[in-house]
Amino acid sequence: MHGSLSAGRIERLIAEMDLTEKLGQMTMLAASLVVTGPPGPDNPVTLVRTGKVGGILNTWGYDEIREAQRVALEETRLKIPLYFAVDILHGHRTIHPIPLAEACAFDRELWRRTARESAEEATRDGIQMTFAPMLDVCRDPRWGRIAECAGEDGYVHAEYAREKVVGFQSANPDPNRRLLGVAKHFVAYGAVKAGRDYAEVDVSPRALHEVYLPAFKAAVDAGVAGIMPSFTDIAGVAMTANKELLHDLLRVKWGFNGLVISDYNAIAELMNHGVAADLAEAAALALNAGVDIDMMAGAYENGLPIALERGLVTMAQIDEAVTRILRMKHDVGLFDNPLRGLEKVGPTPDNMPGHRASARDAARRSLVLAKNEGNILPLQRTTRRMAAIGPLADAQSEMMGPWCMAGDEREAIGILQGLRESFAGSEVIHSIGAHCTDEVEPELIAEAVEAARASDVVVLCLGELRQHCGEAASRTTPRPSRAQMQLSRAIMALGKPVVLVLATSRPWILPDWMVDGASAVMLAMFGGTEGGHAIADVMAGDYNPSGRLCISWPTRVGQIPVHYNMRTTGRPFDPDNGFSTRFLDSTIAPRWGFGDGLSYSTFQLGEPQADNKIIDQHGVTEIAIDVTNAAGPEGEATLFLFVNDPVALVTRPVLELKDFAKAVLRPGETKRVGFTLSAAQLTYPDFAMEPRLDDGRIDIYIGVSARPEDLKRLSIEVRQTAKARHTELV
Ligand code: BGC
Repeated sequence: MHGSLSAGRIERLIAEMDLTEKLGQMTMLAASLVVTGPPGPDNPVTLVRTGKVGGILNTWGYDEIREAQRVALEETRLKIPLYFAVDILHGHRTIHPIPLAEACAFDRELWRRTARESAEEATRDGIQMTFAPMLDVCRDPRWGRIAECAGEDGYVHAEYAREKVVGFQSANPDPNRRLLGVAKHFVAYGAVKAGRDYAEVDVSPRALHEVYLPAFKAAVDAGVAGIMPSFTDIAGVAMTANKELLHDLLRVKWGFNGLVISDYNAIAELMNHGVAADLAEAAALALNAGVDIDMMAGAYENGLPIALERGLVTMAQIDEAVTRILRMKHDVGLFDNPLRGLEKVGPTPDNMPGHRASARDAARRSLVLAKNEGNILPLQRTTRRMAAIGPLADAQSEMMGPWCMAGDEREAIGILQGLRESFAGSEVIHSIGAHCTDEVEPELIAEAVEAARASDVVVLCLGELRQHCGEAASRTTPRPSRAQMQLSRAIMALGKPVVLVLATSRPWILPDWMVDGASAVMLAMFGGTEGGHAIADVMAGDYNPSGRLCISWPTRVGQIPVHYNMRTTGRPFDPDNGFSTRFLDSTIAPRWGFGDGLSYSTFQLGEPQADNKIIDQHGVTEIAIDVTNAAGPEGEATLFLFVNDPVALVTRPVLELKDFAKAVLRPGETKRVGFTLSAAQLTYPDFAMEPRLDDGRIDIYIGVSARPEDLKRLSIEVRQTAKARHTELV
């Protein structure tokens, strides 16, 4: 073992390495547990022996890690420890809500806490690195991977990015319980055409700078250890070979000094993209763009020796990548302690006290109540009999959602179990009614109708199977399956009160009759291990719902993309003007939009005030607003602060989120919520994509959602000392 390695020792180690060993360090291979792409070469552990592997992905646990590390330390020539990496998108053993749900909590402290808890569990299982957070802003529910992101807004992603990176990497005082984050997928993977996974991406430089890049900048500023380029291209330049973004922007302009790790087999796929003739060219393109680690393509191992011979790359570039990799291994403590953090007994509910309660809290905060007609929720505890109906009613393992590799489905709580615990005085009967398929089974529906008829209230639990979500799970129409539609029609025809619970990985396009036929609609998405408890907690009134949508739910597929921060256009929508921007066959507004979500309380806002009405380019203004819990039980309000720049160099969104805050309020209580808004937050990319600040009025809107009727307005003025507005015009 090498003890603690100084820079000089890393240099000496590199001097000892032959080419195979260097390329081995630059190669990451999957353990056979999970294969998401074409199978890789051979068994990783055998390859470890020959020095051909630097790190292993998607394996964990005492026996596996110890054995692989033993081979690396005892049977290889240079005895360099391996690192181990796993996709931990929303929890390791304890599964938290899927990111798209957790983002709806708009709770920075929560985002950080669940990442810290995941790191604690994962390091115990011998992991040092995770391919998270996923930061692909997405406005297209057709894309299965929308489940992994934080919704439609760039600012939300930037806040989420910082909290996740800090939560994984530095929030735990014990260095052995810290996990290296790899922010992915750089960049704009969420803009794949038509939401079809792996399809082409063609976004403007403005969209990149305004929407897709800020989260990655935030991750880099928070010290993220790695960046993973996306599988896709952008405007014809494959991201795995994108020098302009990976080198010029990320490395040079942002000063990122960590690792760039390819996605699964992505280097070899440069041949499919049609930008490399063979593996040597593919490897050279990736290395020249700044990719340090080849995940599962065998491209560095097999392609770089030829690329070197052809003069496409240099040994100095290879040494630079190996230096970064060895430095990462050193900094994370592997040279000092190759079994860093590993415990004989992995994380369990017993040795991770508090994690289950924390996951339940996360799931309750993430749930969005979209409709509650006649305040049917919370349900009376005295309800005599309720029927839990639908394919997701008793589906505990599905609650975990996609990417829950070490999650134990036996520990997950389904909706039925949650209801039975929360409504112990009621009879909760169950009938599946339909599967998540299009095949309608009339006898199942008939049984469910009987169960519903015999009950006072129906909890109709529709959704997706978790294997139908996430990567490679795009759909032209994200909606309930035909069987679930038929079931819903039959149940709703009875005229009983129906609480519709949607356990999905993405916004669904719901028929109007289904929303109209439900008294209440809960957008639960996948809440994780504690999902069923969280739903029951809200239904019973043990938790006052506080989640707000981070993603719009379109009324129709044809509205996609629909998001709150669209631009005004030259012909803003006007109901009285046929030549304003509109559809002939649909509204332009989504069914539920960004910031929507109900509480059992009614929150009222006072008039906002700013201490500085005029600020210069270095200026800051403090904004205060009173929020009152005017009716209902104790609850938590979310306040969003948006701005609009009414006259700018380029068209601006109608609203742009700049901050959000939470306030817990007892019945009748008023609290003052403060925001600090700086001139720097009012900038936007100019023609050269440099920050631009306009002189003149800025409108600030604060509300409990983004709906016009919920927003309070105030204006401030920017008056810069040296620059004049629109100098470009003269
Ligand atoms: C995904 C990545 C993931 C990797 C390793 C790929 O298919 O795109 O997000 O980190 O597999 O599991």
